[in-house]
Amino acid sequence: MSAKSCLTPEREIEALRDQIRHHEHRYYVLDDPEISDADFDLLMQQLKKLEAAHPELVTADSPTQRVGGKPREGFPKAKHSSPMLSLDNAYNEEEFRDWARRVYELTGKKKVDFVCELKLDGMSLALTYTGGQLTRGLTRGDGTTGEDVTTNVRTMPTVPLRIDQKKLLGAGLPPDFEVRGEVIMSIKSFLRMNEEREQQGLSRAANPRNAAAGSIRMLDPSTVAERRLDFYSYFLLRDGNTFLPSHFESLEALEKCGFKVNPHRLCTNDLDKVLDFVNRMEAQREKLPYEIDGIVVKVDSSQLWRQLGFTGKAPRWAIAYKYAARSGVTQIEDILVQVGRTGKLTPLAALRPVPIGGTTVKRATLHNQDEIDRLGVKIGDWVLVERGGDVIPKIVKVIEDKDHPRGKRSFEFPTRCPECGGKVVRAEGEADHRCVNAKCPAKLRESLLHFASRGVMNIEGMGESLVNQLADRQLVKDVADIYSLTEEKLLSLERIGKKSAQNLLREIDNSRELPLERVILGLGIRFVGERTAELLAEHFGSIDAFLNASFDELQQVNEVGPRVAEAITEYFSEPRNRELVERLRKAGLKFEGQKKQRGTKLAGKTFVLTGTLPNFSRDQAKKMIEDAGGKVSGSVSKKTDYVVAGNDAGSKLDKAQELKIPIVDEDGLTKLLA
Ligand code: IVH
Repeated sequence: MSAKSCLTPEREIEALRDQIRHHEHRYYVLDDPEISDADFDLLMQQLKKLEAAHPELVTADSPTQRVGGKPREGFPKAKHSSPMLSLDNAYNEEEFRDWARRVYELTGKKKVDFVCELKLDGMSLALTYTGGQLTRGLTRGDGTTGEDVTTNVRTMPTVPLRIDQKKLLGAGLPPDFEVRGEVIMSIKSFLRMNEEREQQGLSRAANPRNAAAGSIRMLDPSTVAERRLDFYSYFLLRDGNTFLPSHFESLEALEKCGFKVNPHRLCTNDLDKVLDFVNRMEAQREKLPYEIDGIVVKVDSSQLWRQLGFTGKAPRWAIAYKYAARSGVTQIEDILVQVGRTGKLTPLAALRPVPIGGTTVKRATLHNQDEIDRLGVKIGDWVLVERGGDVIPKIVKVIEDKDHPRGKRSFEFPTRCPECGGKVVRAEGEADHRCVNAKCPAKLRESLLHFASRGVMNIEGMGESLVNQLADRQLVKDVADIYSLTEEKLLSLERIGKKSAQNLLREIDNSRELPLERVILGLGIRFVGERTAELLAEHFGSIDAFLNASFDELQQVNEVGPRVAEAITEYFSEPRNRELVERLRKAGLKFEGQKKQRGTKLAGKTFVLTGTLPNFSRDQAKKMIEDAGGKVSGSVSKKTDYVVAGNDAGSKLDKAQELKIPIVDEDGLTKLLA
């Protein structure tokens, strides 16, 4: 009898739930998973199966209850424990120092600690915990009354469904409390959501904030679950009031209990340091994976909060230092059409240049016909343009008032490709117009640039100007022609000398050595990005096995679904594409790879590496372990099977000793692998 089956179903279910909660926290809150997604799914499936067999044991705080639930009719309203207020704004240093001066005056103190946090651009939410369990999630609403969106809140993995007694005690929290914070959608999830909506023929959301706010108020919780919303906590209350002595301690207590608290935070009594934080974060703003619109500065001491009180709708103890708007108003001078690698025609608005957040914006994407219809834009219209994260500037809405009269010219998609005159079609159910000419020069240029780019065949020197000349002079008609370029041909081009021609030929030659996955990626098949190409190469081990795979065989590959499988079969059903592959074979590219048959020696074992090994780099050791079926995790826990310690091993070694986890050195690892 296995150890597991000795447990009562109740115990087994609780143990699984604990494991899942632990891994959810590692993955969603700490960003540091210990197990693969597949292993996580397995645990979840096990739990679902057990719960299905014992429905009487299903509880509202079970991780399985995050997903699903029935669509509901509107949301009931409920009153907040205390008003959810807004913040007063400061737009520059002077206004900020004025606010701080008032704080000093009203408190009669010369030194006051301030906590700086990011002002996340999302939607605020209040979560009620009763007896450590999440019992209610309310939107801000009008500040006094919000909408009860509990079912949707439950789908968000960054919201703990329950916090156990020990954790609450350790963090100094009572069993009944309230957490307030911001629901946000990361830029990545936002882009993915819009891409999917576009494919389904739906309109795009204007920005991550609207997407987050719209998602949390959706009626079908299973759709909310797909949206991957994040919740960052920034307030801890009891009976509507803060109760720990300081705000910074509240943030730390929240973190200890498993809530996600933004790591970019600072506590200081030096106003110059506050301003330094404001400026530093503004410089990093573009690199953050979510959107922020400023910094919130809060007085740290709760006692001073009570002393300072409120003005109208905002507390005196906090201020939002707002960054310059990353939007502006300008006029659409024209709408141009750009042709991409897959032949997709993208309408671009040519704008009267407008400075927005430190750069001059001249173009904004209009995505497709649906977006143009949604906005109702015409050439000559005045529009609100917004820049956000790494998203290309986009048009939020058309402005219409006496100073901004409407434009007159409607935009029509061309029926012929602006690059080659080829036919343009919009397939039924698709949002995009495409040029169907396989030999369209724009497609050629874009595919050459993709093929030569750094993460693909890495042919340095093959940039836009060279590619344009090669395509225009018909020296290269597809990517395989790159391999028949000669010094003589290159020297016939403008701005290229003997030395750069030779360098380029060497780069081209080197690219022949790149592994199979790069070749697969280089073909530019729709939806086949870096990771998919890698999985395909690992699974099939050769181009031949890959190109002859059926629709069903393709779907056997990890992470390949019907959409990708269809794109691949469609690609290889075109004789010209098969011909291209043959010419790449003749050019000497790598068509064989290593079919990854993982070993089983270390199957199911989790390793943690620490310190420097005498003969292997960390990457080498990791690869050896993974090739033998083992896993490598970043941190030591009870689930770690071995810690591999080299020289100068750090705190992970201490932790391993503390948890009595077997520690091996490089020799020990080699023995395990042998
Ligand atoms: S404190 C009374 N902290 O900004 C205190 N708000 O303009 C109000 N926000 O409604 C909230 N990040 O939705 C606070 N770190 C943060 C925030 C934050 C974003 C939002 C919140 C609030 C709005 C006020």
